[in-house]
Amino acid sequence: MWLTLLRKKTMLEKLINPFIKDLPVYEPGKPVQELERESGISGAIKLASNENPLGPSPSVIKALTEAALGVHIYPVGDCFYLKRTLAEKLGICCGQLIFGNGSDEIIALVCQAFLSPGDEVIYAYPAFIEYELISRAFGAKCRRIPLRNFTHDLPAMAAAVHAETKLIFIANPNNPTGTTVDKNQFADFMRGLPGHVIAVVDEAYYEFVATDDFPDSIEYIRQGAQLIVMRTFSKAYALAGLRIGYGIADAQIIQYLNRVRHPFNVNSLAQSAAIAALQDEAHLIRTRRTIDQGRACLSQELERLGLEYVPSAVNFILLKVGQGQRIYQALLRKGVIVRAMDCYDLPEYIRVTVGTQGENTRFIEALREVL
Ligand SMILES: Cc1ncc(COP(=O)(O)O)c(C=O)c1O
Repeated sequence: MWLTLLRKKTMLEKLINPFIKDLPVYEPGKPVQELERESGISGAIKLASNENPLGPSPSVIKALTEAALGVHIYPVGDCFYLKRTLAEKLGICCGQLIFGNGSDEIIALVCQAFLSPGDEVIYAYPAFIEYELISRAFGAKCRRIPLRNFTHDLPAMAAAVHAETKLIFIANPNNPTGTTVDKNQFADFMRGLPGHVIAVVDEAYYEFVATDDFPDSIEYIRQGAQLIVMRTFSKAYALAGLRIGYGIADAQIIQYLNRVRHPFNVNSLAQSAAIAALQDEAHLIRTRRTIDQGRACLSQELERLGLEYVPSAVNFILLKVGQGQRIYQALLRKGVIVRAMDCYDLPEYIRVTVGTQGENTRFIEALREVL
C-alpha cells in the first residue's frame, strides 16, 4: 500500500507540467467564517482583502433578485449589454472591451494569449503576486524590479527590457503599497516602450484615486498604444463575491484574448449586478467618501501610535509594525483579520483595508493592545 502510494506520487511528479511544479498556491485573505470556525471567536471583522465596507448598492441587490429568476439560462456569452453600458461610460468601442471572472482572469487571458516558454515578463516588486504566478505557469521568466520609495520605478523597468521581454505589468495604484505613478512618469515610460512589448496596467483601485495627475490610460488606447488596462468590479463597486473584472485594449488585442476566453466565463448574476453598479453613481460617491474619511482617520491614529505607514491613494494602508506576522496573529486572536506582508518580503509590515468607522476604530483599539 505504502509502496503503491509512493510510486503514484513519483509518477505524478513526472506528469506535472514542469512550469507549475514549483509554483506556490496563492493565499487569499482569511475569511471571517474560517477564523470563527477555527478559533470560536464571534463577531470577527475582515480588513484583509480591500473589499468595499459598505457592501453592494441597493440597486445591485434588486438587479440580482431579478436576475436570479433566470439562472437556468446560460449567460450572455459576450456580456453584450454590460459591454454596451461600460463602453458608453468610458467613451470607447464595444470591441475594445473584454470581461473576465474577476480581473484575475484577464491577467490569465493576457498571459495565455501572449506568453510562450522562454518569454520574459517584467513587474515591480512587491506588487500583486498573480502577475508572477500566472506568467510562470505559461513558462515565462519573471524579472522583479524593486520599488523605489514604495513606488514603481518605471525608468528601471524600462531599462530592464530586452529582446525576450513580452509583457510589463504595472499596478497603478500598486497593491500592497497603495502608491501611484503619475501622468508624466507614465508618459515617459510609454514613449520609450519598444514595439515587441505590451504594457499591462492594472487599475483595480482606479475608482478610489482622487489626484489630478493620475494617467488617463484609456486615452493611450484610443490613440493606438500597445497597452492593456485592467479594472475590476471587486473593489469600489463592491462585487468581489460575484467575480467580475474587465480589460480595455485595442480591438485586435481583444480579439486575441477572446480566442482563449472560455464561453460563458462571466455568469449572468455578475453581468446584471455590474450594469446596476455602473448606473448607481451615488453608491460610488458614498464609497469614496467613506474610504477618504476612513483613510484620513486611520492615518491620524497611526501617527498618534508613532507608526510609519506608506501614504496611500486607495482603500488600504501598508504600515510598519515591527514583527508583522506576530502582530497579524495577535490581531486574529482579537477577531481582526488583516494581511501579514512576509509573503511580499515585507516582514515588518501589515496591510489593512479601510473599513467602516466602527471597523477602523476596532482595528486601532486592537492594534494598540497588541503592539
Ligand atoms: C492589484 C490587483 N489586481 C487585481 C486584483 C484581482 O481582482 P479581481 O477580484 O478582479 O480578480 C487584485 C485583488 O486584490 C489586486 O489587488
